[in-house]
Amino acid sequence: MTAESKRSRYSAEYDVPVRGDQITADRYITREWMALENQHLWPKVWHLGGVLAELEEEGDVIRHNFGKESVIMVRQAPDETGHAAVKAFYNTCPHRGNRLILGDVGGAPRITCSYHGWQFDPDGTLVHVQDPEDFSGGNPCGKVKLAELRCDTWGPFVFWCMDDDVKPLHEWLAPFPERLAGYGVENWVRVLNLSADCEFNWKIIRDNFNESYHLPTVHPEVATFINDGLPSTLFEMYPSGHNSMWMVGHQATTRNDYVSGDVPPGLYEAAEAWGIDPKQYRGRTNEIREAVIKAKRERGPALGYTNYKDMSDQQLVDYFHCTLFPNLTLTMSPEQLQILRTEPHPTDPEKCVFQHWCLYPPVAGMKEVVTPIGNVPLTHDAVARHSTYGDGVSVGFVADQDLSIGTSQQQGLNSRGFKGCLLPDQEKRVQRFHELLNDMVRGKP
Ligand code: FES
Ligand SMILES: [Fe+2]
Repeated sequence: MTAESKRSRYSAEYDVPVRGDQITADRYITREWMALENQHLWPKVWHLGGVLAELEEEGDVIRHNFGKESVIMVRQAPDETGHAAVKAFYNTCPHRGNRLILGDVGGAPRITCSYHGWQFDPDGTLVHVQDPEDFSGGNPCGKVKLAELRCDTWGPFVFWCMDDDVKPLHEWLAPFPERLAGYGVENWVRVLNLSADCEFNWKIIRDNFNESYHLPTVHPEVATFINDGLPSTLFEMYPSGHNSMWMVGHQATTRNDYVSGDVPPGLYEAAEAWGIDPKQYRGRTNEIREAVIKAKRERGPALGYTNYKDMSDQQLVDYFHCTLFPNLTLTMSPEQLQILRTEPHPTDPEKCVFQHWCLYPPVAGMKEVVTPIGNVPLTHDAVARHSTYGDGVSVGFVADQDLSIGTSQQQGLNSRGFKGCLLPDQEKRVQRFHELLNDMVRGKP
């Protein structure tokens, strides 16, 4: 190996310089930082609120609790063209502030407050109050509305945003709607809906998803079928603030010699799954990736993978990790979309909520899918659960490993001896994340 091949690789087209701001511990620990994020960061970004599959009928509602905030998304009546929009409202009653919706999903012709029984149409209009004649300004029905916020959809997802000046959703998501178009995720099914309360700041896992430096140490098992070698992995950083990482799949890491011997476990099963005899690839295991591309093109459509035809070769076999600023990760492969994110705790900067959703394409005849927690029926929210990390309930095999470092990192960051991060080049996305955060939270220098 040459010295050059041990350096990280950034896209020539999508790279940005960083300033080198020091990343100190206060941002992970203090209430001051948390308050600044609540004021300057979270209102200024789009938030993934839920999946459209839960909003089929007029009046269907999903709730998204975020920190101290709570937002509801409500399916509207269809217009003349048959299109039914979704609106988002703050989950608070305009009478005296009671939270309106107390469950994660629901549906009724009217939203009814459980305190004094005020009722609202799905479009947020107040339509019923007790004692309407007793208001000196006249009956408020038809005049008062729920506080609305921006709402839009992309693929199978609903998003909301608290600020009117943030770019429209599809621009804000750039370049991903275009980059991900070939996967055809619109009708994919959310099979896993897992979440957990965690004992660390939300940015700890954001940093982790902004680097692949931890793969050999935290996820050693994936080394035989995901090539995390530095010259092979491609990092991109976009003007939008989002970034991505292309990891070569169906190929072992180039950090060790997995090529000259037998096909290693993991890669072995991946080849067999596509009718490839791994024994034929002894001494040239790195050629399996090409063979899988060929097999997927030939056999995929007959197996029901109708989306393969719109994908590039790279999309067919590699892993595309899309990390959106500030807190959303989409990990794409042709047969699985993982949503991974952390959200702040309502009051404690040293806690967060971790969420892991897995979506799968609806393949004709397929009853079950292999998920990060085992085989699960291919149905909406086949497993939906909330746990406390550390109680032994899995949030997914690889995600469990990621979370396993969170608590001890939070503890270490509290030490007087920690003076700020020291990053290799391959962690430039971590550096950029914190510089974007600094610009938003403290203002541009
Ligand atoms: S607070 Fe909602 S009806 Fe009174
Ligand atoms: Fe990881």
